[in-house]
Amino acid sequence: MIGKEKLKLLVVDDDPDVVDMLSAYLSGHDMEITTAENGAEALKRLKEKEFELVISDVMMPEMNGIELLKRMSSEHPDVAIIMLTSMDETKLATQAMQSGAFDYILKPVEFSQLNISISNAVTKQRLIQENRAYKETLERMVKEQRDVIQQQRSQLLQSDKLSSLGMLISGVCHEINNPLAFINSNLQLLELYFGNLKNAMDEYAREHPDYRLKKMTMEEAAQNIKRMLDDSLQGANSIKGIVSDIMGFSRKESDERRAFCVNDCIRKTLHMARFILKNKVAVQAGFGPDPLEALGQPQKMGQVFMNLFHNAAYAMRDRPASTLTITTRKEPISGGHGERIFIEVKDNGAGIPKEVMERIFDPYFTTKPSGEGTGLGLSISRNIVEDHGGAMSVESELNKGASFIITLPVHKD
Ligand SMILES: Nc1ncnc2c1ncn2[C@@H]1O[C@H](COP(=O)(O)OP(=O)(O)OP(=O)(O)O)[C@@H](O)[C@H]1O
Ligand SMILES: [Mg+2]
Repeated sequence: MIGKEKLKLLVVDDDPDVVDMLSAYLSGHDMEITTAENGAEALKRLKEKEFELVISDVMMPEMNGIELLKRMSSEHPDVAIIMLTSMDETKLATQAMQSGAFDYILKPVEFSQLNISISNAVTKQRLIQENRAYKETLERMVKEQRDVIQQQRSQLLQSDKLSSLGMLISGVCHEINNPLAFINSNLQLLELYFGNLKNAMDEYAREHPDYRLKKMTMEEAAQNIKRMLDDSLQGANSIKGIVSDIMGFSRKESDERRAFCVNDCIRKTLHMARFILKNKVAVQAGFGPDPLEALGQPQKMGQVFMNLFHNAAYAMRDRPASTLTITTRKEPISGGHGERIFIEVKDNGAGIPKEVMERIFDPYFTTKPSGEGTGLGLSISRNIVEDHGGAMSVESELNKGASFIITLPVHKD
Protein backbone atom coordinates (compact mmCIF):
# COMPACT_ATOMS: atom_id res chain seq x y z
CA MET A 1 0.00 0.00 0.00
CA ILE A 2 2.84 2.37 0.64
CA GLY A 3 4.81 3.87 -2.26
CA LYS A 4 8.42 5.03 -2.29
CA GLU A 5 7.55 8.51 -1.02
CA LYS A 6 5.96 8.84 2.41
CA LEU A 7 2.23 9.31 2.08
CA LYS A 8 1.08 12.58 3.65
CA LEU A 9 -2.06 12.01 5.61
CA LEU A 10 -4.31 14.24 7.72
CA VAL A 11 -6.31 12.59 10.53
CA VAL A 12 -9.29 14.64 11.76
CA ASP A 13 -11.24 13.62 14.86
CA ASP A 14 -12.40 15.35 18.05
CA ASP A 15 -11.77 12.18 20.01
CA PRO A 16 -8.08 12.23 21.06
CA ASP A 17 -8.08 8.46 21.63
CA VAL A 18 -9.07 7.81 18.03
CA VAL A 19 -6.49 10.32 16.78
CA ASP A 20 -3.72 8.77 18.89
CA MET A 21 -4.60 5.26 17.91
CA LEU A 22 -4.73 6.03 14.17
CA SER A 23 -1.55 8.14 14.31
CA ALA A 24 0.39 5.42 16.07
CA TYR A 25 -0.74 2.76 13.64
CA LEU A 26 -0.28 4.77 10.44
CA SER A 27 3.10 6.27 11.45
CA GLY A 28 4.28 2.70 11.95
CA HIS A 29 3.34 2.10 8.32
CA ASP A 30 5.71 4.74 6.99
CA MET A 31 3.17 7.54 6.63
CA GLU A 32 3.60 11.16 7.58
CA ILE A 33 0.72 12.01 9.88
CA THR A 34 -0.72 15.40 10.79
CA THR A 35 -3.75 15.74 13.03
CA ALA A 36 -6.68 18.15 13.50
CA GLU A 37 -9.56 18.29 16.00
CA ASN A 38 -12.30 19.41 13.64
CA GLY A 39 -13.13 20.50 10.09
CA ALA A 40 -12.08 24.13 10.59
CA GLU A 41 -8.63 23.12 11.86
CA ALA A 42 -8.32 20.56 9.07
CA LEU A 43 -8.89 23.30 6.45
CA LYS A 44 -6.12 25.33 8.11
CA ARG A 45 -3.69 22.38 7.90
CA LEU A 46 -4.67 21.77 4.28
CA LYS A 47 -3.70 25.36 3.46
CA GLU A 48 -0.31 24.99 5.18
CA LYS A 49 0.82 21.74 3.61
CA GLU A 50 0.08 19.35 0.75
CA PHE A 51 -1.76 16.14 1.65
CA GLU A 52 -2.77 13.19 -0.44
CA LEU A 53 -5.40 11.85 1.88
CA VAL A 54 -7.68 12.95 4.74
CA ILE A 55 -9.28 10.52 7.20
CA SER A 56 -12.04 12.38 8.97
CA ASP A 57 -14.69 11.69 11.56
CA VAL A 58 -18.23 12.67 10.50
CA MET A 59 -19.56 14.08 13.74
CA MET A 60 -17.36 16.87 15.13
CA PRO A 61 -17.99 20.23 16.80
CA GLU A 62 -17.33 23.51 14.96
CA MET A 63 -17.22 21.99 11.47
CA ASN A 64 -18.38 18.45 10.88
CA GLY A 65 -17.05 15.99 8.32
CA ILE A 66 -19.77 16.62 5.71
CA GLU A 67 -19.10 20.37 5.75
CA LEU A 68 -15.33 19.69 5.54
CA LEU A 69 -15.94 17.38 2.58
CA LYS A 70 -17.92 20.08 0.74
CA ARG A 71 -15.24 22.71 1.33
CA MET A 72 -12.52 20.31 0.23
CA SER A 73 -14.25 19.42 -3.03
CA SER A 74 -13.99 23.06 -4.11
CA GLU A 75 -10.76 24.13 -2.36
CA HIS A 76 -8.68 20.92 -2.46
CA PRO A 77 -10.16 18.72 -5.19
CA ASP A 78 -6.95 16.65 -5.48
CA VAL A 79 -7.12 15.35 -1.89
CA ALA A 80 -9.11 12.17 -1.26
CA ILE A 81 -11.18 11.83 1.90
CA ILE A 82 -12.21 8.73 3.83
CA MET A 83 -14.93 9.19 6.47
CA LEU A 84 -15.04 7.50 9.88
CA THR A 85 -18.52 6.82 11.22
CA SER A 86 -20.07 4.90 14.04
CA MET A 87 -22.78 2.32 13.48
CA ASP A 88 -25.56 4.76 14.31
CA GLU A 89 -24.33 7.34 11.76
CA THR A 90 -24.63 5.26 8.58
CA LYS A 91 -27.16 7.75 7.18
CA LEU A 92 -24.50 10.45 7.42
CA ALA A 93 -21.99 8.09 5.84
CA THR A 94 -24.25 7.63 2.81
CA GLN A 95 -24.61 11.39 2.58
CA ALA A 96 -20.81 11.71 2.68
CA MET A 97 -20.41 9.21 -0.14
CA GLN A 98 -22.94 11.18 -2.19
CA SER A 99 -20.94 14.34 -1.54
CA GLY A 100 -17.76 12.82 -2.95
CA ALA A 101 -16.07 10.93 -0.10
CA PHE A 102 -13.94 8.10 -1.40
CA ASP A 103 -15.03 5.57 1.21
CA TYR A 104 -16.33 5.27 4.78
CA ILE A 105 -15.10 3.07 7.59
CA LEU A 106 -17.04 2.10 10.65
CA LYS A 107 -15.73 2.68 14.13
CA PRO A 108 -14.16 0.90 15.87
CA VAL A 109 -11.66 0.90 13.04
CA GLU A 110 -10.71 -2.41 11.52
CA PHE A 111 -7.07 -1.92 10.44
CA SER A 112 -7.11 -4.41 7.56
CA GLN A 113 -10.12 -2.59 6.11
CA LEU A 114 -8.43 0.79 6.67
CA ASN A 115 -5.34 -0.44 4.81
CA ILE A 116 -7.35 -1.49 1.76
CA SER A 117 -9.35 1.72 1.76
CA ILE A 118 -6.22 3.94 1.99
CA SER A 119 -4.48 1.99 -0.75
CA ASN A 120 -7.49 2.26 -3.08
CA ALA A 121 -7.98 5.96 -2.36
CA VAL A 122 -4.35 6.79 -3.03
CA THR A 123 -4.23 4.76 -6.26
CA LYS A 124 -7.39 6.41 -7.51
CA GLN A 125 -6.21 9.85 -6.54
CA ARG A 126 -2.85 9.38 -8.26
CA LEU A 127 -4.59 8.14 -11.41
CA ILE A 128 -6.81 11.22 -11.37
CA GLN A 129 -3.73 13.46 -11.02
CA GLU A 130 -1.86 11.68 -13.81
CA ASN A 131 -4.92 11.94 -16.00
CA ARG A 132 -5.18 15.63 -15.32
CA ALA A 133 -1.47 16.11 -16.13
CA TYR A 134 -1.94 14.20 -19.42
CA LYS A 135 -4.99 16.30 -20.22
CA GLU A 136 -3.09 19.52 -19.52
CA THR A 137 -0.14 18.39 -21.68
CA LEU A 138 -2.52 17.46 -24.46
CA GLU A 139 -4.34 20.76 -24.22
CA ARG A 140 -1.02 22.63 -24.27
CA MET A 141 0.11 20.68 -27.35
CA VAL A 142 -3.17 21.37 -29.14
CA LYS A 143 -2.84 25.06 -28.27
CA GLU A 144 0.75 25.16 -29.54
CA GLN A 145 -0.27 23.48 -32.80
CA ARG A 146 -3.19 25.89 -33.14
CA ASP A 147 -0.80 28.83 -32.66
CA VAL A 148 1.59 27.45 -35.28
CA ILE A 149 -1.27 27.02 -37.77
CA GLN A 150 -2.53 30.51 -36.98
CA GLN A 151 0.96 31.93 -37.50
CA GLN A 152 1.42 30.08 -40.77
CA ARG A 153 -1.96 31.24 -41.96
CA SER A 154 -1.19 34.90 -41.28
CA GLN A 155 2.27 34.44 -42.81
CA LEU A 156 0.58 33.17 -45.95
CA LEU A 157 -1.83 36.09 -45.88
CA GLN A 158 1.07 38.48 -45.42
CA SER A 159 3.06 37.06 -48.33
CA ASP A 160 -0.13 37.16 -50.38
CA LYS A 161 -0.44 40.85 -49.52
CA LEU A 162 3.20 41.39 -50.41
CA SER A 163 2.78 39.68 -53.76
CA SER A 164 -0.31 41.83 -54.53
CA LEU A 165 1.76 44.86 -53.59
CA GLY A 166 4.51 43.60 -55.90
CA MET A 167 2.00 43.24 -58.74
CA LEU A 168 0.67 46.74 -58.09
CA ILE A 169 4.17 48.20 -58.12
CA SER A 170 5.12 46.41 -61.33
CA GLY A 171 1.84 47.68 -62.87
CA VAL A 172 2.74 51.24 -61.87
CA CYS A 173 6.23 50.80 -63.30
CA HIS A 174 4.72 49.57 -66.53
CA GLU A 175 2.62 52.73 -66.73
CA ILE A 176 5.66 54.92 -66.03
CA ASN A 177 7.58 53.20 -68.83
CA ASN A 178 5.66 54.77 -71.74
CA PRO A 179 5.94 58.48 -70.83
CA LEU A 180 9.49 57.80 -69.72
CA ALA A 181 10.33 56.52 -73.20
CA PHE A 182 9.05 59.87 -74.67
CA ILE A 183 11.05 61.90 -72.18
CA ASN A 184 14.16 59.91 -72.92
CA SER A 185 13.97 60.12 -76.70
CA ASN A 186 13.00 63.83 -76.58
CA LEU A 187 15.97 64.58 -74.35
CA GLN A 188 18.28 62.75 -76.73
CA LEU A 189 16.83 64.73 -79.68
CA LEU A 190 17.20 67.96 -77.70
CA GLU A 191 20.83 67.13 -77.08
CA LEU A 192 21.30 66.62 -80.81
CA TYR A 193 19.52 69.88 -81.72
CA PHE A 194 21.46 71.70 -79.07
CA GLY A 195 24.69 70.89 -80.95
CA ASN A 196 23.35 72.97 -83.90
CA LEU A 197 21.85 75.64 -81.66
CA LYS A 198 25.22 76.02 -79.93
CA ASN A 199 26.87 76.89 -83.24
CA ALA A 200 24.21 79.55 -83.85
CA MET A 201 24.66 80.89 -80.30
CA ASP A 202 28.45 81.11 -80.78
CA GLU A 203 27.99 83.02 -84.02
CA TYR A 204 25.50 85.42 -82.44
CA ALA A 205 27.87 85.99 -79.53
CA ARG A 206 30.69 86.86 -81.92
CA GLU A 207 28.47 89.43 -83.66
CA HIS A 208 26.97 90.80 -80.40
CA PRO A 209 29.68 90.43 -77.76
CA ASP A 210 27.73 92.56 -75.26
CA TYR A 211 24.50 90.56 -75.49
CA ARG A 212 23.42 89.00 -72.17
CA LEU A 213 20.84 86.30 -71.59
CA LYS A 214 19.58 86.89 -68.04
CA LYS A 215 22.94 88.39 -67.12
CA MET A 216 24.86 85.48 -68.68
CA THR A 217 27.12 85.60 -71.70
CA MET A 218 26.08 83.35 -74.56
CA GLU A 219 28.93 80.98 -73.63
CA GLU A 220 27.75 80.70 -70.02
CA ALA A 221 24.12 80.21 -71.09
CA ALA A 222 25.16 77.43 -73.50
CA GLN A 223 27.15 75.70 -70.75
CA ASN A 224 24.18 75.91 -68.39
CA ILE A 225 21.77 74.49 -70.93
CA LYS A 226 24.20 71.66 -71.71
CA ARG A 227 24.59 70.83 -68.01
CA MET A 228 20.81 70.81 -67.47
CA LEU A 229 20.34 68.55 -70.48
CA ASP A 230 23.01 66.14 -69.25
CA ASP A 231 21.50 66.05 -65.74
CA SER A 232 18.02 65.45 -67.15
CA LEU A 233 19.27 62.64 -69.37
CA GLN A 234 21.13 61.07 -66.49
CA GLY A 235 18.03 61.36 -64.27
CA ALA A 236 15.79 59.84 -66.94
CA ASN A 237 18.25 56.97 -67.43
CA SER A 238 18.37 56.38 -63.72
CA ILE A 239 14.53 56.21 -63.57
CA LYS A 240 14.63 53.78 -66.49
CA GLY A 241 17.09 51.60 -64.56
CA ILE A 242 14.99 51.64 -61.39
CA VAL A 243 11.80 50.84 -63.26
CA SER A 244 13.35 47.94 -65.13
CA ASP A 245 14.95 46.60 -61.93
CA ILE A 246 11.62 46.69 -60.11
CA MET A 247 9.80 45.10 -63.02
CA GLY A 248 12.42 42.36 -63.12
CA PHE A 249 12.29 41.87 -59.36
CA SER A 250 8.53 41.76 -59.00
CA ARG A 251 7.86 39.64 -62.08
CA LYS A 252 6.11 36.50 -60.96
CA GLU A 253 8.48 33.63 -61.25
CA SER A 254 7.21 30.22 -62.23
CA ASP A 255 7.72 27.45 -59.72
CA GLU A 256 10.16 25.84 -62.10
CA ARG A 257 13.65 25.39 -60.78
CA ARG A 258 16.66 26.06 -62.90
CA ALA A 259 20.41 26.21 -62.59
CA PHE A 260 21.66 29.70 -61.74
CA CYS A 261 24.87 31.32 -60.68
CA VAL A 262 24.81 32.45 -57.06
CA ASN A 263 27.42 35.17 -57.73
CA ASP A 264 25.27 36.65 -60.53
CA CYS A 265 22.21 36.56 -58.30
CA ILE A 266 24.08 38.46 -55.56
CA ARG A 267 25.53 40.97 -58.07
CA LYS A 268 22.05 41.76 -59.45
CA THR A 269 20.60 42.11 -55.98
CA LEU A 270 23.46 44.37 -54.94
CA HIS A 271 22.72 46.53 -57.94
CA MET A 272 19.09 46.80 -56.82
CA ALA A 273 20.16 47.42 -53.23
CA ARG A 274 22.29 50.43 -54.16
CA PHE A 275 19.37 52.67 -53.11
CA ILE A 276 19.35 51.10 -49.67
CA LEU A 277 23.12 51.04 -49.21
CA LYS A 278 23.46 54.49 -50.82
CA ASN A 279 26.99 55.84 -50.58
CA LYS A 280 27.17 55.19 -46.87
CA VAL A 281 28.06 51.51 -46.96
CA ALA A 282 31.26 50.16 -48.47
CA VAL A 283 30.70 46.81 -50.14
CA GLN A 284 33.54 44.30 -50.15
CA ALA A 285 32.68 41.36 -52.34
CA GLY A 286 34.89 38.30 -52.44
CA PHE A 287 33.21 36.05 -54.96
CA GLY A 288 34.41 32.50 -55.63
CA PRO A 289 35.08 31.62 -59.30
CA ASP A 290 32.08 31.88 -61.68
CA PRO A 291 29.84 30.09 -62.25
CA LEU A 292 28.89 29.03 -58.74
CA GLU A 293 25.83 27.06 -59.74
CA ALA A 294 22.88 26.18 -57.53
CA LEU A 295 19.50 24.79 -58.52
CA GLY A 296 16.28 26.65 -57.74
CA GLN A 297 14.63 30.02 -58.15
CA PRO A 298 17.16 32.86 -58.48
CA GLN A 299 14.51 35.50 -57.94
CA LYS A 300 13.57 34.00 -54.59
CA MET A 301 17.23 33.74 -53.58
CA GLY A 302 17.53 37.39 -54.66
CA GLN A 303 14.77 38.16 -52.17
CA VAL A 304 16.85 36.45 -49.45
CA PHE A 305 19.95 38.55 -50.23
CA MET A 306 17.84 41.71 -50.43
CA ASN A 307 16.46 41.00 -46.91
CA LEU A 308 19.97 40.45 -45.59
CA PHE A 309 21.29 43.66 -47.20
CA HIS A 310 18.30 45.54 -45.85
CA ASN A 311 18.87 44.24 -42.30
CA ALA A 312 22.60 44.94 -42.49
CA ALA A 313 22.04 48.49 -43.72
CA TYR A 314 19.58 49.05 -40.87
CA ALA A 315 22.00 47.63 -38.26
CA MET A 316 24.80 49.89 -39.58
CA ARG A 317 22.68 53.02 -40.02
CA ASP A 318 24.31 55.01 -37.21
CA ARG A 319 27.79 53.54 -37.52
CA PRO A 320 30.84 55.17 -38.99
CA ALA A 321 32.74 53.24 -41.69
CA SER A 322 29.93 50.78 -42.40
CA THR A 323 31.13 47.80 -44.39
CA LEU A 324 29.16 44.98 -45.91
CA THR A 325 31.38 42.00 -46.67
CA ILE A 326 30.07 39.33 -48.99
CA THR A 327 31.94 36.10 -49.49
CA THR A 328 31.05 33.14 -51.69
CA ARG A 329 32.96 29.93 -52.36
CA LYS A 330 32.69 26.23 -52.74
CA GLU A 331 33.71 24.27 -49.67
CA PRO A 332 33.94 20.59 -48.78
CA ILE A 333 30.97 19.24 -46.81
CA SER A 334 32.32 18.47 -43.35
CA GLY A 335 32.13 14.79 -42.53
CA GLY A 336 30.44 14.10 -45.84
CA HIS A 337 31.16 13.72 -49.49
CA GLY A 338 31.39 16.39 -52.11
CA GLU A 339 31.10 20.15 -51.90
CA ARG A 340 28.55 22.81 -51.09
CA ILE A 341 28.17 26.52 -51.77
CA PHE A 342 29.09 28.79 -48.87
CA ILE A 343 27.74 32.36 -48.77
CA GLU A 344 28.44 34.85 -46.01
CA VAL A 345 26.82 38.27 -45.64
CA LYS A 346 28.61 40.13 -42.88
CA ASP A 347 28.14 43.62 -41.49
CA ASN A 348 29.92 45.66 -38.85
CA GLY A 349 26.74 47.05 -37.37
CA ALA A 350 25.21 46.95 -33.90
CA GLY A 351 25.35 43.15 -33.57
CA ILE A 352 22.65 40.97 -32.05
CA PRO A 353 21.98 40.58 -28.29
CA LYS A 354 21.58 37.00 -27.01
CA GLU A 355 17.83 37.33 -26.32
CA VAL A 356 17.24 38.60 -29.88
CA MET A 357 19.46 35.87 -31.34
CA GLU A 358 17.17 33.16 -29.92
CA ARG A 359 14.13 34.54 -31.72
CA ILE A 360 15.67 36.08 -34.80
CA PHE A 361 14.14 33.58 -37.26
CA ASP A 362 10.69 33.59 -35.60
CA PRO A 363 7.95 34.96 -37.84
CA TYR A 364 6.86 38.45 -36.75
CA PHE A 365 9.81 38.90 -34.42
CA THR A 366 11.19 42.39 -34.87
CA THR A 367 13.05 44.93 -32.77
CA LYS A 368 12.16 47.73 -35.15
CA PRO A 369 9.68 50.36 -33.95
CA SER A 370 6.09 49.53 -34.76
CA GLY A 371 5.22 50.22 -38.38
CA GLU A 372 8.83 49.95 -39.57
CA GLY A 373 9.26 46.21 -39.91
CA THR A 374 7.08 43.13 -40.24
CA GLY A 375 9.62 40.79 -38.65
CA LEU A 376 9.05 38.40 -41.54
CA GLY A 377 12.26 39.05 -43.49
CA LEU A 378 14.44 36.38 -41.89
CA SER A 379 11.73 33.76 -41.39
CA ILE A 380 10.73 33.95 -45.07
CA SER A 381 14.42 33.97 -46.08
CA ARG A 382 15.20 30.87 -44.05
CA ASN A 383 12.18 29.07 -45.60
CA ILE A 384 13.38 29.97 -49.09
CA VAL A 385 16.93 28.73 -48.35
CA GLU A 386 15.56 25.48 -46.89
CA ASP A 387 13.33 25.06 -49.97
CA HIS A 388 16.58 25.16 -51.94
CA GLY A 389 17.92 22.28 -49.84
CA GLY A 390 20.20 24.63 -47.92
CA ALA A 391 20.60 26.02 -44.42
CA MET A 392 20.88 29.47 -42.91
CA SER A 393 22.51 30.45 -39.63
CA VAL A 394 23.74 33.53 -37.84
CA GLU A 395 26.70 34.47 -35.72
CA SER A 396 27.16 37.75 -33.95
CA GLU A 397 29.16 39.60 -31.38
CA LEU A 398 27.49 42.59 -29.75
CA ASN A 399 28.71 45.89 -31.18
CA LYS A 400 30.90 44.07 -33.68
CA GLY A 401 28.29 43.17 -36.26
CA ALA A 402 26.49 40.10 -37.51
CA SER A 403 27.28 37.43 -40.01
CA PHE A 404 24.60 35.45 -41.85
CA ILE A 405 25.78 32.20 -43.39
CA ILE A 406 23.91 30.35 -46.08
CA THR A 407 24.92 26.99 -47.48
CA LEU A 408 23.38 25.55 -50.65
CA PRO A 409 23.88 22.30 -52.53
CA VAL A 410 26.06 22.61 -55.63
CA HIS A 411 24.13 22.00 -58.84
CA LYS A 412 25.50 19.11 -60.84
CA ASP A 413 24.44 18.53 -64.47
N1 LIG B 1 22.30 42.28 -39.54
C1 LIG B 1 21.62 42.40 -38.38
N2 LIG B 1 22.21 43.02 -37.32
C2 LIG B 1 21.54 43.14 -36.13
N3 LIG B 1 20.30 42.68 -35.92
C3 LIG B 1 19.66 42.06 -36.93
C4 LIG B 1 20.29 41.89 -38.22
N4 LIG B 1 19.42 41.23 -39.02
C5 LIG B 1 18.31 41.01 -38.29
N5 LIG B 1 18.44 41.52 -37.05
C6 LIG B 1 17.47 41.44 -35.94
O1 LIG B 1 16.50 40.47 -36.27
C7 LIG B 1 15.18 41.00 -36.26
C8 LIG B 1 14.33 40.29 -37.26
O2 LIG B 1 14.77 40.52 -38.59
P1 LIG B 1 13.77 40.34 -39.80
O3 LIG B 1 14.49 40.64 -41.06
O4 LIG B 1 13.12 39.00 -39.69
O5 LIG B 1 12.65 41.43 -39.51
P2 LIG B 1 12.79 43.03 -39.50
O6 LIG B 1 14.02 43.41 -40.24
O7 LIG B 1 12.67 43.47 -38.09
O8 LIG B 1 11.50 43.46 -40.29
P3 LIG B 1 11.38 43.53 -41.89
O9 LIG B 1 12.27 42.47 -42.45
O10 LIG B 1 9.95 43.31 -42.15
O11 LIG B 1 11.83 44.92 -42.24
C9 LIG B 1 15.41 42.48 -36.53
O12 LIG B 1 14.35 43.28 -36.04
C10 LIG B 1 16.71 42.74 -35.78
O13 LIG B 1 16.48 42.91 -34.41
MG1 LIG C 1 14.38 42.50 -42.20
